[in-house]
Amino acid sequence: MTTNLDLRIYATPADLFEAAAEDFVEQATGAVQARGRFTIALSGGSTPKGLFQVLSSKDHDRLPWDRMFFFWGDERHVSPEDPESNYRMARETLLSKVPIPEQNIFRVLAEDTDANRAAEKYEGTLKQFFAPPAGRLPQFDLVLLGMGPDGHTASLFPQSKGLREKQRLVIANWVEKFSTDRITFTAPLLNAARVVEFLVAGSDKAPALREVLEGNASPDLYPSKMIRPVNGKLVWMVDQAAAAGLSAKR
Ligand code: 6PG
Repeated sequence: MTTNLDLRIYATPADLFEAAAEDFVEQATGAVQARGRFTIALSGGSTPKGLFQVLSSKDHDRLPWDRMFFFWGDERHVSPEDPESNYRMARETLLSKVPIPEQNIFRVLAEDTDANRAAEKYEGTLKQFFAPPAGRLPQFDLVLLGMGPDGHTASLFPQSKGLREKQRLVIANWVEKFSTDRITFTAPLLNAARVVEFLVAGSDKAPALREVLEGNASPDLYPSKMIRPVNGKLVWMVDQAAAAGLSAKR
């Protein structure tokens, strides 16, 4: 992993989420000042809940919600009411609690029985919203990512077909261990962002974090290693427990 790694280690998950919320406010207000809008791709799983709860409890006037646009970096192949839905989690812990216009929220239509069709539709939504110049990819201001104990990120799982995707922006990626498709951004789209920010907490993540940041295993086994923004910043915000395996020199 590159030496100029922006790795921020916090004593507790609460400290991590507080810092991530402050960073979010900074990035959102900065993007709206600079470009008139802030585009963000949310991660799923449990870790972002902490950030969303801090953000929804903050003074809402600090954020230009009407100029903020929410997308998802991956989604489970379930309906928006399903407890497994990343959209549902974000709606319950953040979006239903803040003054965000409904038309600024772009969820994956993951209730579609055909996961490939859901992925194609979402790719179409991104291309329409961002309207990137020919040969360029949509560029999110911020992509939030988590990392699994197996080193997966978004729904790019170890040794899954989606890791080799070079053209598509959003795909249905078959995840053997869950016997299901997941709808996920591909590495090229994730790496086109201005800022990619990993939020990682808990001792169960320590072996994978050590491998991703300091190890030599291939990205095929630790897909989080594939995340290297082309013209953007990579930030790891982790708690002490997740960082426990990292070499002292950090
Ligand atoms: C998902 C996520 C996934 C998640 C990791 C970490 O849909 O599950 O997008 O990539 O970020 O699995 O999950 P936890 O935060 O629950 O540990």
